[in-house]
Amino acid sequence: MRLTTILLMALLSGCALQASKPDDLYRELGQEQGIKTLVTKLLYNIADDQRIADQFRDSNVERLRDKLVEQICVLSGGPCVYTGDTMAESHAGKNINDMHFNALVEDLIAAMNSQQISVSAQNRLIALLAPMHGDIVYH
Ligand code: HEM
Repeated sequence: MRLTTILLMALLSGCALQASKPDDLYRELGQEQGIKTLVTKLLYNIADDQRIADQFRDSNVERLRDKLVEQICVLSGGPCVYTGDTMAESHAGKNINDMHFNALVEDLIAAMNSQQISVSAQNRLIALLAPMHGDIVYH
């Protein structure tokens, strides 16, 4: 999926966001247990994705999983606290480009599909992640 598509989806789902209660998305993602499974599947997809797997070679996968779970929980309106580093701090110097970013979003979509998360909920989560693009991609 191209970045323009992701950004367009982010814009389009603005209406859906306003119509939802803050924790609706959290429930649609299956609450904490669903988000944990989702993030585990995402990390497996990343490990199998030759476009980006190398960038995670030296990563602390347990920490990464915990921080991603916290982050998605908070973003979706769940009762969590994000205790990780900022997106700018954690991605600085990693030379992440648009292709890498889009690959990770595709891996996330595949994980959400395998969890039978509705397209509407998928779009809302991506809309919440899309604004982080500027802090993650190298300029
Ligand atoms: C919306 C997109 C993304 C989100 C929400 C995200 C989120 C995160 C989070 C929460 C952390 C952990 C911060 C911490 O340890 O305190 C992290 C670390 C990291 N991210 Fe991302 N990230 C995204 C995109 C990417 C992309 C595209 C890549 C590369 C292809 C990438 C590579 C990494 C790496 C290598 C780490 C460090 C892991 C470690 O050293 O243990 N991220 N990211």
